[in-house]
Amino acid sequence: MDTHLPPELATGDRPGAHARPAPRTIADLAQAGLIIEDEGRTRLGDEFRICASRLHSAIKASILSGERNGNALMVTSTKPAEGKSFSSLNLAAALAQTAQRPVVLVDADLKPGSLSELMGLKRQPGVFDMVSDASLRPAELVVATPLPGLSILPIGMPAMQTDLDHRRRPLVEVVDALAAGLSDCTLVIDTGPLLSTSDPSILAPSVAQIVMVVESGRTQRPELEAALELIRGSPKVMLMLNKVSGRQRSAFGAYSYYGDYYARPNAPPPSNPPAPQG
Ligand SMILES: Nc1ncnc2c1ncn2[C@@H]1O[C@H](COP(=O)(O)OP(=O)(O)OP(=O)(O)O)[C@@H](O)[C@H]1O
Ligand SMILES: [Mg+2]
Repeated sequence: MDTHLPPELATGDRPGAHARPAPRTIADLAQAGLIIEDEGRTRLGDEFRICASRLHSAIKASILSGERNGNALMVTSTKPAEGKSFSSLNLAAALAQTAQRPVVLVDADLKPGSLSELMGLKRQPGVFDMVSDASLRPAELVVATPLPGLSILPIGMPAMQTDLDHRRRPLVEVVDALAAGLSDCTLVIDTGPLLSTSDPSILAPSVAQIVMVVESGRTQRPELEAALELIRGSPKVMLMLNKVSGRQRSAFGAYSYYGDYYARPNAPPPSNPPAPQG
């Protein structure tokens, strides 16, 4: 499959769209948090590639065994600002670069400052348009990015409370439609925090993989346990330790933080509390 979607799929225009231009250059993606490796590989980039490779194997196994939405991976965490969107974008990019399979980064977090907004796609139709209009085909809404193999499905607009409410469908059904309609792609779904929004726990049963971002020095063990309890039935939960400071590791690249990954499906929370930030 061509990893670049045709140009006609890359606009998804609606009247008044393009408040800011869609990502046209890698620098635009960097503005949204993409790690740039102009001067060679970075430790942070390597960490994401390792995570992506493990996730790719897990996704392949899920698809082969016919699990529900085996190609869908959700990224969440306990609280705001722990690095879900940063990790979603960089995992999606690493998967697109290493996994030989197109990736669609799905923005499913309605909060201001979401990936769609950072990429200038806030006014493009997307996930929430599919909630109110079941006739929309996912491929019509996906926007190509300048990174080969990586596209984004914007958040879209939630419908106003209207007499069309009977046409709404649950977000889980939208994820089912995305996984089926984009079955050749891996879906990386960026969501909100488990302890303060309901969507991630509602979506959890409909995705084959969950990445739980844990912020070093900030996420507390009881919070992590409470969040894991909310997704207890999910078969594959992987913990990803984010924002480990340089002093805690022997080597790192140009970034002051980098990810660490516990590739242990169904693993209990790390036995040691996250280390204090340096
Ligand atoms: N490992 C990292 N290295 C450098 N910057 C990071 C890292 N992780 C996150 N950030 C930065 O921290 C800020 C918060 O991260 P991000 O927006 O990804 O959090 P979030 O969990 O998605 O927040 P929210 O719950 O509000 O959606 C962003 O500016 C992001 O670029
Ligand atoms: Mg976010």
